[in-house]
Amino acid sequence: MKITLDLTAMLQASFITYPDPWHYQRPSLATHIGNMCKDTLFSRMIYLGSRRIGKSYFFLNDLCPYLLKEGLIPVYVNMRGNTSAPHSEFAEQLAIALDEIEQDGTPKRFLNTEIKKLAISNQFAKIDMDFKPKVATDIDLSNIKILLKSLVEAAGKSKLILILDEFEHLMTSTAFDNFLYALRTLLDNYGSRISVIFIGSSSTGMKTAFVDDKMPFYQSAQINEFPTLDDGFLTHCTEKLEGVYNIHINRLELLDFWYEIDRSPHWIINLMRDMVANQRSLPQAISFIKEAIRVEEGHVELLKNLTATDKAVLLLLHYKRGLYSEKSVRIIRAIGGKGTRGGIQSSVRRLENKKIIITLPDKNVMIQPRRLIDAIKQDLPDEVKPWIGVL
Ligand SMILES: Nc1ncnc2c1ncn2[C@@H]1O[C@H](COP(=O)(O)OP(=O)(O)OP(=O)(O)O)[C@@H](O)[C@H]1O
Ligand SMILES: [Mg+2]
Repeated sequence: MKITLDLTAMLQASFITYPDPWHYQRPSLATHIGNMCKDTLFSRMIYLGSRRIGKSYFFLNDLCPYLLKEGLIPVYVNMRGNTSAPHSEFAEQLAIALDEIEQDGTPKRFLNTEIKKLAISNQFAKIDMDFKPKVATDIDLSNIKILLKSLVEAAGKSKLILILDEFEHLMTSTAFDNFLYALRTLLDNYGSRISVIFIGSSSTGMKTAFVDDKMPFYQSAQINEFPTLDDGFLTHCTEKLEGVYNIHINRLELLDFWYEIDRSPHWIINLMRDMVANQRSLPQAISFIKEAIRVEEGHVELLKNLTATDKAVLLLLHYKRGLYSEKSVRIIRAIGGKGTRGGIQSSVRRLENKKIIITLPDKNVMIQPRRLIDAIKQDLPDEVKPWIGVL
């Protein structure tokens, strides 16, 4: 075990310019997924997992070094890298990777840049819901086709592994449809010559992409749940705190918080940062981070602008209830909303216009801001809370 860890660390140093000292390595998961990448049985894989559980971090920091070590060529594209024009982002990333592979034989610098971008964007993350989707032109699409062909040629005997992060973004507008169709056709043409990993954080959006028979990626990949980090991550963090900063904390209290935030390493790392930088105790830092979660997710502002009907509609949509049934209307009224047909319809329109909800092609609804439902539940007056139990 120790040997594998050391090896991974050495490998990392070879291309990650500033290795993250807090990196909790996941060598067995990297080997597992890496082996599937080598095989032809699993050339299309989907990894789904809720927000902030370390998906992007794992694929960039653990899987990519492993793939490189094994002689495969990973190329990473974040579909949200350019929210209005994901096809441009795709083309740009292919071009950068191609350039480097042609010069050096591997895309190490390219991956390093992505690691840095991820670290920076995670510190200032805010979901951009206000974008104007652009349609890919025929020229854009044929450019992508040429780039991919050149990339496969440049890779030579090495297998190309495309890692497409935040893939559900392509579900958020019909403007992206022709890019989606073109991509499916292109990838099909290469068959198992290229392995593709699709990563997504909205299970509704991703399931629509791959499970709806009207969508281009219908049944084209194997759906997997992305495994969350194990509790060893907390030991890793507490050891670092003790060893480097001589700070000792109550592990059980940290464990409770870890479960409360659905095992999100993002918030644990921020908690560590707060304890060290601001010399706060664990309970103080926990309440600080809880507040930070509310602010970062924009809930305070968002909740102020939602009517009682909006909140009720969101809850009903989340629990997949019809909006107009007698029971639903009763719930909307109990929460303080109007409960008339017109009132409900205009609330849905308002939520759609603000891109808080997105109705997918299969009519399922994707609620965009993370944890908004939790925030709404917390915000409800006490006498209304029992109604949530009915849902
Ligand atoms: N294995 C790990 N070791 C140390 N820190 C980690 C690890 N995984 C994730 N983190 C921390 O959590 C942060 C968020 O991780 P990441 O961006 O990968 O989550 P995500 O699941 O991709 O989130 P999103 O759904 O928002 O895309 C990272 O910037 C890093 O600070
Ligand atoms: Mg991510």
